[in-house]
Amino acid sequence: MKGLILSGGKGTRLYPLTYTRAKQLIPVANKPVLVRVIEAIRDANVTDIGIVIGTNTGAEIQDKLGDGSPWDVNLTYIMQESPDGLAHAVKISRDFLGDDQFVMFLGDNVIEGGISRLISDFATSEWNSQIVLKEVQDPTAYGVAKLRTDGSIEALIEKPRIPPSNLALVGIYMFDKTIWDAVNSIQPSARGELEITDALQWLIDAGHRVYPHVHQGWWIDTGKPIDMLEANSLVLEELSPCISTDAVITDSEIDSRVTIERGARIVNSVIRGPSIIGENTLVENSYIGPFTSIYHDVTIRNAEIERSIILENSCVCDLVARLQDSLIGRNAQVKHSDDKPRAIKMNLGDHSNVWLV
Ligand code: TTP
Repeated sequence: MKGLILSGGKGTRLYPLTYTRAKQLIPVANKPVLVRVIEAIRDANVTDIGIVIGTNTGAEIQDKLGDGSPWDVNLTYIMQESPDGLAHAVKISRDFLGDDQFVMFLGDNVIEGGISRLISDFATSEWNSQIVLKEVQDPTAYGVAKLRTDGSIEALIEKPRIPPSNLALVGIYMFDKTIWDAVNSIQPSARGELEITDALQWLIDAGHRVYPHVHQGWWIDTGKPIDMLEANSLVLEELSPCISTDAVITDSEIDSRVTIERGARIVNSVIRGPSIIGENTLVENSYIGPFTSIYHDVTIRNAEIERSIILENSCVCDLVARLQDSLIGRNAQVKHSDDKPRAIKMNLGDHSNVWLV
C-alpha cells in the first residue's frame, strides 16, 4: 500500500495567508496540518508516500518536509503544473503509484482517531475503493453520497444544490488499480476540473465495488479561516499538555491544560487551556484564553487573546480590547498606538478582513 497526499491547489479561501504560503503548512496546535496528515498515514504503517505539489507553493513544502526522514517515511514529490482537480492529481501520480493499492489524503484535512483501521479493512477486503463519509449540516459545499437502502452507493454528486443526503465525502479515499481506467475515462467538469466524484461514479457505474465508511468522530477540511480555528480547538482538546523544562515562567498562573514549548517565557500572565505557546515566544502582562495557539518567536505584551492562532515572528501588543476568533499570519504587527491624530492605521494585504468595535 502506498500513500498519496494532495498539497497543490490554490487555497483561495484562505487569502491573504495563502498568497505567501502553502495552506497545508499552516499549523494547527503548532504543528502543520500536512505533518499531521503524514503522521496519520505513517501510523497506519504506510511509509512510501507521494506528495502532489503545485508550482506556487511546492518549493516551500519540499523545503519543510525534505525526504520525510524526520517522520520515518519516504517522500516523493509529484509536480502538478496547474490545479486541474483531485482526479487530475491522481492521474499524474501514475508512475509513482504503479498498480499498488493506495490511500489518498487531502493535505488540508484533519480527522479524529487516525486511519489505521480504515487502511487495514481496505487492504484485506475485495473492494476496489473505500471512501469515507461524514454527516454534515450543510452538504451543499461538499461531494455528497446518495446511498441505496442496502447501504451501498448509488451516486456521488459534487456540491449539489439539492443534496440527496447529509453524507459528505471526507478527504480520504482508498483505491486499487481500477482507478486508472476511471481517471482516464472522465472529462473535466463545468468548472474545468477532473473531479474525484466523477471518477468514483465511473467506478460505481462500471460495477466496481466502492465501499462507504461513515466516520463517527470529528473531521475538518481546513479550507477557510473559521475551519482552521475549529480544527485548532479540536486538536488542542486532544493534546497531552507538557511544559518544557527549558521554558521560563515568572509570576504567572498556568492552567493544567497548557503546553509551553522550549525557550518560551511567560511573565506576569494568565494562560488558560487548552492552549499552546510556541518556542522562544514571550508572553508578558497578558491573558491567553482557551483554544489559542501561539506559534514560535511571537511577542505578546499587554494583550488578551482567546480562540485564535498567531503565527511566527508576529507581535500583538498593548491592545485596548480582547483579540478573539482571529487568525494572524507571519511577521504581523497588531499594536495600540498613542500617535496623534488618533486614528485606525492599517497595512493590509489583499483579501484581508478586519472587524472593528
Ligand atoms: P481544495 O480545498 O478543494 O482546493 P484549493 O486548495 O485550491 O482551495 P480553494 O478552494 O480555497 O481555492 O483542495 C483540497 C486539497 O487538494 C488541498 O490540499 C489542495 C489539493 N489539491 C491538489 O493538490 N490539486 C488540485 O488540483 C486541487 C483542486 C486540490
